[in-house]
Amino acid sequence: MAAVYPELSGRVVAVTGAAQGIGACIARAFAQQGARVAALDIDQAGAAEVVREISATGGKAIAVALDVTDETSVQGAIARTLSELGGLDVLVTSAGGYGRLANVEDMPVEEWDRTVALNLRGTFLCCKAAIPHLKKSGAGRIITISSISGRTISSSTSPAYAASKAGVIQLTRFLAYTLGEHGITCNSVAPITTLTPRVKALRTPQNIAQISAQVPMKRLPDPDEHASVVVFLASDGASYLNGMVMDTNGGKVMM
Ligand SMILES: NC(=O)c1ccc[n+]([C@@H]2O[C@H](COP(=O)([O-])OP(=O)(O)OC[C@H]3O[C@@H](n4cnc5c(N)ncnc54)[C@H](O)[C@@H]3O)[C@@H](O)[C@H]2O)c1
Repeated sequence: MAAVYPELSGRVVAVTGAAQGIGACIARAFAQQGARVAALDIDQAGAAEVVREISATGGKAIAVALDVTDETSVQGAIARTLSELGGLDVLVTSAGGYGRLANVEDMPVEEWDRTVALNLRGTFLCCKAAIPHLKKSGAGRIITISSISGRTISSSTSPAYAASKAGVIQLTRFLAYTLGEHGITCNSVAPITTLTPRVKALRTPQNIAQISAQVPMKRLPDPDEHASVVVFLASDGASYLNGMVMDTNGGKVMM
């Protein structure tokens, strides 16, 4: 994306799950706007590679290891972002996902706990660690990545994932309600199945065609089509959007 939001130049943006997929696209998109990016991920090598790409094109980024489910690790990652980049203006929580399609009756409790921890506890811990610093920003933003699975119901997902993404949306609204007076806006982006390298490897072309056929636009999005919305939400143009869910689903679900 070309640099269209000059106000984002120099802002410090922490992106979780930035080693690949949608999170990596978001990290690159902010760097293209001149923001200083902390690429946070449990996959240190992947995050370092994204940072190398950003640096090679003249952007400023650092890779920071974190496990979003571990409070000490999250606090440490935010502390490192502050010490190396000098503050925090925007938090994007993209780390998330689930292992497999499942029903409630055949889901081991451990799998439920793991999935909810990654998506919901992880988002909570990152927001908790970031909020004191976002309050000092003057243009603080929290942008959570939820999912169409948290907006509507379908059998081709995981109950733990669907429930935790609905939880992420309600957590985002709670944050919007309570942090607005501190000049922080909180919004969520809720993607449909997206053509990331991981999804392209997992799904057959027939499967992708089937899902695409259910979308009014008859195609699935590239990850950049979510990243551009995330960057907009951080821009001054979105300064009065708060507690919104941006349904980047091509019109499949309209709410
Ligand atoms: N790709 C899709 O089709 C799709 C659709 C709707 C919503 N989403 C959501 O978008 C976000 C990104 O999805 P994606 O497909 O790009 O995911 P992905 O699996 O490609 O990438 C997820 C990243 O999170 C990191 N991660 C995993 N566990 C972590 C942990 N405990 N701590 C820190 N980092 C961890 C991984 O290393 C990876 O880099 C997720 O929240 C996902 O639920 C994705």
